[in-house]
Amino acid sequence: MIYLNGKFMPIEEAYVPVLDRGFIFGDGVYEVIPVYSRKPFRLTEHLRRLQYSLNGIRLKNPHTDEQWRALLEQIISHNAADDQYLYLHITRGVAKRDHAFPINIPPTVFIMSNPLLIPPQELLLTGIPAITASDNRWGRCDIKAISLLPNVLLRQLAIDSGAMETVLLRDGFLTEGAASNIFIAKNNVLLTPPKSHLMLPGITYDVVLELAQAHAIPYEVREITEEELRTADEVLLTSSTKEVMPIVSLDGKSIGGGKPGPMFKQLNQLYQQYKAVTMRAGNSALLSAE
Ligand code: PDD
Repeated sequence: MIYLNGKFMPIEEAYVPVLDRGFIFGDGVYEVIPVYSRKPFRLTEHLRRLQYSLNGIRLKNPHTDEQWRALLEQIISHNAADDQYLYLHITRGVAKRDHAFPINIPPTVFIMSNPLLIPPQELLLTGIPAITASDNRWGRCDIKAISLLPNVLLRQLAIDSGAMETVLLRDGFLTEGAASNIFIAKNNVLLTPPKSHLMLPGITYDVVLELAQAHAIPYEVREITEEELRTADEVLLTSSTKEVMPIVSLDGKSIGGGKPGPMFKQLNQLYQQYKAVTMRAGNSALLSAE
């Protein structure tokens, strides 16, 4: 069952008019929220980022956080899998094609859930290949916009060359992945770029930094040069659906001996532990209380 504009229905019955501004202009925002054992992970933070994205495109939030929570709970209960990922999508509604905002038009609200398939253990043991590309997206990559054409094209470059992610560089500095945030490790220090308009403020990115802080892993949030990326001991990606994954080659050249390293192993273990603890505690566990 999915949710569309106030109704629950099977996905086969869900239709949106062709004049929806999401279809015509990609005029909307979205969220992806992992659900473990039927509990949404870091929901408060995802709803906060949704509000941030809506503010960024000047669209009023159609629901309060309580209403979102209730809708998401229903969607979760309508779906069979214990581990799911929720997809929320809001567009500026249906109106005659005109770039200018329509007046007094209700937004389109769509929620679906799919089984969450986290990366298989085998990939975590071998690591994944990635390529690099020039980050040619717009200047507001901090908004989780549904207009993902640049990300789609950049990710496809990786697929075309047998890799799994495209790591993006803008003006000689690391920004993020086509659909993930990127960390590197150098001399046992974890490094990642600071949040800015040029990257999505990842929820998993925040969790990883909190885990580093709570477990005294040395880390620095600062700009990372292309040279530092290419000579890193380890490169990691993070996202809500991929969690923490080791990248073991860039553009066909091995990173850190071509095997997942100790920083990945420690962070992944901490992440899995944290997931288990938060889920048991009904999502209210604090990192400091572990
Ligand atoms: N993508 N950067 C980009 C461009 C992303 O698309 C994503 C996630 C992230 C990681 O953010 P988070 O940790 O909050 O998932 C960073 C989602 C999963 C997607 O579009 O499917």
